[in-house]
Amino acid sequence: MDPQRLSDYQSSYDRIAEEYANRISGELDHKPLDRMLLDEFAARVKGAGRVCDLGCGPGHVARYLHDRGVDIFGMDLSPGMLEQARKRNPAMEFRHGNMLTLDVRDRAWAAIVAFYSIVHIPKTDILQAFREMFRVLEPGGLLFLAFHIGIEVLHEENCWGHQVSLDLVFFGWLALLSRTRSSASPMRRKSSTKAGEPTSARASQFEDNALPKPPEAMALHNPGSHM
Ligand SMILES: C[S@@+](CC[C@H](N)C(=O)[O-])C[C@H]1O[C@@H](n2cnc3c(N)ncnc32)[C@H](O)[C@@H]1O
Repeated sequence: MDPQRLSDYQSSYDRIAEEYANRISGELDHKPLDRMLLDEFAARVKGAGRVCDLGCGPGHVARYLHDRGVDIFGMDLSPGMLEQARKRNPAMEFRHGNMLTLDVRDRAWAAIVAFYSIVHIPKTDILQAFREMFRVLEPGGLLFLAFHIGIEVLHEENCWGHQVSLDLVFFGWLALLSRTRSSASPMRRKSSTKAGEPTSARASQFEDNALPKPPEAMALHNPGSHM
């Protein structure tokens, strides 16, 4: 990924970190579907080993899982976001890191949760992000991704009155899955759309790198106030 773009992302999130935390940290209170999926995730990874909230922002997803007994820490590109995460969750660990080049040994983590952080990875680099996730996951490790459904790439120069330079990449979930499957990674799809859910710009789904299993969890929901 172009270093200038990475630096733009970092400084953009540093600039909006406090406001983002104020606006978004409490969002799970109003998202029963997300809570249900996170509860399911927590039940599956509790006691399994270390779990990373990758692109954790202010850390509310990590906190939710921590409160349910998951051995989780957060990782983010933006020092400003990490400052917010640490301030709001002083008992938890938050580290600096870039999901495209994780400074982590192979097979170190039991699971990864990444809510709306791959949305800043260009389509040309998304396979690299998945390769890194796969490399650092234990065999059979679980990946819980949330992202925006679509095909477009939006460019934002202003967020809540702050100057930013952020690309917001939407992914077609079928295309994304076929990319992960056609890569070196043996990650397998085990998800299906839920009839009756609104068509939307956001999706959450479970993946793991174990053998293929029956369809399990796929959720579509409205964009809400997330970027
Ligand atoms: C839309 S926010 C999502 C934050 C949080 N996961 C949530 O659900 O609110 C995207 C986050 O991804 C982080 N991010 C962007 N690119 C990243 C990268 N290459 N590696 C790690 N984190 C990254 C940003 O700093 C930001 O905190």
